Amino acid sequence: MQRVFFIAKKRGETMAAQSDEITIPKHVAIIMDGNGRWAKARHLPRVAGHKEGMDNVKRIAIAASHLGIKVLTVYAFSTENWRRPTDEVNYLMGLPVRFFNHYMPDLMAENVRVNVMGYLDELPAQTRQVTLDAMDQTKNNTGMVLNFAFNYGARKEITTAVQQIASAVAEGQLAVDEINEKTVADHLFTASLGKWQDPDLLIRTSGEERLSNFLLWQLAYSEFVFTDVHWPDFTSQDLEKAVQTFSHRQRRYGGLK
Ligand code: FPP
Repeated sequence: MQRVFFIAKKRGETMAAQSDEITIPKHVAIIMDGNGRWAKARHLPRVAGHKEGMDNVKRIAIAASHLGIKVLTVYAFSTENWRRPTDEVNYLMGLPVRFFNHYMPDLMAENVRVNVMGYLDELPAQTRQVTLDAMDQTKNNTGMVLNFAFNYGARKEITTAVQQIASAVAEGQLAVDEINEKTVADHLFTASLGKWQDPDLLIRTSGEERLSNFLLWQLAYSEFVFTDVHWPDFTSQDLEKAVQTFSHRQRRYGGLK
């Protein structure tokens, strides 16, 4: 892991000054929880929380890009979220449309490349189309990858990978003893992220401490940071704090330091 000094531009002070050196995680993944509770606390409908949560995706993406994070993966809709009331599901399905209509100029100005991973074929046509358009529009950008997990579920992702590998074996393209961890990783949605496919840091907001079927393979050696802050209230300072916490962790990957 590269050690770098980071200048906290907005506050005009250095994170380095606070804690010697900061290691910026290359890939940060976020479970954006607490939109509903944020709304309830304000006597607003749940969807108001999702709207505020959507706006915060943009704010945190820009902050992450400024920090030097290479990939920011956000869990926006799980394969289990279809179980929610129809009105809420419909609203969530409309969010990519709103988000890219509103924020594409900001993403372009920040040189952000959009990726959307999940079972996109199952999405309403307009939702699917805007995600494809966003990926296409930003495909030549060379900055941070903003990676949406949308209609994503890790167990389904791994099951699909197993099916694809089994088909390759059945068709004689692959021998069973040639299957290794890279074979599996190459069949996951994250394969396109190359050397940054595994998150270094996972953040979950809003006090829950579980994975909820998110990146089960890829998080094997990630550092976890949990915060009680609801996602719409999660600020760039909270992100910096999580990065600071990450920076003080000693990662041993099962070995010894
Ligand atoms: C979990 O909070 C949040 C979600 C299921 C949706 C997250 C979506 C966003 C933050 C916006 C995504 C933006 C785009 C552009 C797709 P919850 O509703 O379960 O909150 P609760 O646990 O407090 O009820």
